[in-house]
Amino acid sequence: MKPADTDVPIHSLLSERWSPRSFCQGKRLADDIITSLFEAARWAPSSFNEQPWRYLYAIHGTEAFDRMNECLNPTNRVWAVNASLLVLSLAKNTFTHNGKENRHSWHDVGAADLSMVLQALSAGLYCHQMAGFDKEKTKEIFEISEDFQPVTFIAIGYRDDPSNLPEQLEIRELAPRSRKSLEEIVRKVE
Ligand SMILES: Cc1cc2nc3c(=O)[nH]c(=O)nc-3n(C[C@H](O)[C@H](O)[C@H](O)COP(=O)(O)O)c2cc1C
Repeated sequence: MKPADTDVPIHSLLSERWSPRSFCQGKRLADDIITSLFEAARWAPSSFNEQPWRYLYAIHGTEAFDRMNECLNPTNRVWAVNASLLVLSLAKNTFTHNGKENRHSWHDVGAADLSMVLQALSAGLYCHQMAGFDKEKTKEIFEISEDFQPVTFIAIGYRDDPSNLPEQLEIRELAPRSRKSLEEIVRKVE
């Protein structure tokens, strides 16, 4: 585990969250755990309560899982293939109540995705979100309509020993985590 080296204490779910590449190969998840992930996402806040998030998911060992994995960039595919679950988050581009562009749809999908990530961690499951995938192929394979955009794939599973990864990935897995300083990202206005 690589807990964040925080300046001040924060909630353990936040400090202990990170994005591993080493997953116990295809370990089966209980159905109620899977449901709880989407339930957590469902209760995220959203602009106008639009709830612009939609999810597709596939379980390791199924043909659907392989099709999802094939949408990933090769560098992601190589480790994500061991996840128990692959999830694809989608954003609805427009508001349902007036048909206008929803400029915050991706923001809200991000909030729902993080809710899922934290719910997963509370059950001992780790998530790794990925922007590295072929968007056009994903839209085609999963028949995503024009009003939706694929946002991220999320690999979910139990962590495995990093030494089971190919050497280059093991090095990245064990590298120190870094963040911009608080001074760089926060400014008090007066
Ligand atoms: C929207 C999004 C897209 C990401 N895409 C990828 C990706 O394609 N491949 C990858 O290895 N990691 C990806 N990551 C993981 C980030 O690299 C990771 O969150 C970041 O380095 C911070 O590390 P941490 O999550 O362990 O704190 C992505 C994360 C997010 C939130």
